This record gives sequence, C-alpha cells and structure tokens, in this order.
Amino acid sequence: MTIHIGAEKGQIAPTVLMPGDPYRARWAAETFLDDAQLVNETRGMLGFTGTWNGHTVTIQGSGMGMPSLSIYVNELIRDYDAQTLIRIGSCGGMQPQVKLRDIILAMTSSTLSTPSSGIFRELNYAPVADWELLRNAVAACEAKSISPHVGGIYSSDVFYDERPDLNKEMVRHGILGVEMEAAELYTLAARYGRRALAVLTVSDHLDTGEALPSEDREKSFGDMVEIALQAAFT
Ligand code: HPA
Repeated sequence: MTIHIGAEKGQIAPTVLMPGDPYRARWAAETFLDDAQLVNETRGMLGFTGTWNGHTVTIQGSGMGMPSLSIYVNELIRDYDAQTLIRIGSCGGMQPQVKLRDIILAMTSSTLSTPSSGIFRELNYAPVADWELLRNAVAACEAKSISPHVGGIYSSDVFYDERPDLNKEMVRHGILGVEMEAAELYTLAARYGRRALAVLTVSDHLDTGEALPSEDREKSFGDMVEIALQAAFT
C-alpha cells in the first residue's frame, strides 16, 4: 500500500496500462483481461489486475494532467517496481493530416514544464518514448491495418488554453497533437530506467473544432488497448 494506491505489493503487474479516466480502466480491464480484479480504489482512481494471453497486466487510471500522473507513476515504479508503463488516452489533433479517430504514437513530447522541470533548471530536457515499445506499437498498428502518426506531441498543463500563439508555433514545428500527461511519464521512466510509451487517439481537433461522439470513443479506445498490449508483450 502507498499513499495513493491501496494494492498490496504483488497485486500490481510489471506491465501497467494507464488511461486518464478510471472508468476507462474498468472498461478496458473488463473487456480485454481475464480474471480482472479490482486492486485499487483509493480516491476513486480505479486499478485492475488480470491477464492477457497469459501475461499479467495492471490497468490503472492516472487522472488528468502531469501532477496527477506523476503521483501514480512514482508510486508504481518506486513501490511496486512497474517496468513497462503505457499511457492510453485521447489527444487533440494539431496538424491537418491528423484526423479524428487517428492513432498517434508519441515519439517525444514538448512541454512548458512538468512536475520534474525543477531538476532540469535551464535545460530543455527532451522526453522520449522507449524505442522497443514504439517499434512494437507501429507493428501492432500495421497488423490491424491502422496507419499511426508517429512523432512529437505537446503535453500541456491546461485544457482551456489561453496561448493560441504557442499552439501556432507548435503546429508550425510539426507537433501532431496535444494531451496532458506523456512528457512526465517519459521523464519518470527515463529516470528509473523503465519503458514508457503513449498511444493516443485523436478525440478532437484544435483547428476544425470537431470532436468524436462518445460511442466512437469506445471503439477507438479499444484499438488503443489492443495496440498497447501487443506492444508490451511482443
Ligand atoms: N487539449 C488538451 N488535452 C486534450 C485535448 C486537448 O484539446 N484533447 C484531448 N486531450
């Protein structure tokens, strides 16, 4: 047990999938895992452990934003020895070729800051995905006839963004989409020598203002869970 996770040691698997939304953790566990057991409900941030193709997997909500994710990832790594952490979440598309429902695999993530920024001071640290997971995720997409966008994303601290000028610069510099968690996940994984990846579905588009209806979100979310599981266990 930790401050924010009620699971006993041994109840968290070495591989952890992390949606932002705890209800999505429940849906993914019930849909894709065998023998899924609830292992955490502290603060309603649900976590489940079960098996997929014989591999033990935990699906644990991260909450929204890097400060929340940082708490769960620190405890998963430091107290439960998690080795592979894959974010499965939604993002806003930023490029014209990035369409609703598309999958983005985040090779790297730019930020204004993360909860770890204090240790870097004037350095602009570049958080990166684990290469093996990224390569496996590309292969998993191809096996499903999905063409993912692979490249840089933006991990923002705000959903209601008041800096359109900054978004414009990121679009100009090829950033594919915006979410709120990946940069801190990658930074923590690097610090502790663990593997991390963010697999994202485009749920809305900053330029066009389009957004996915909720029934479509479930199907796209299912694809992400399968891609993440394939990537982890290839
Ligand atoms: N901004 C930040 N995070 C997001 C967005 C967005 O537009 N869409 C999904 N996650």
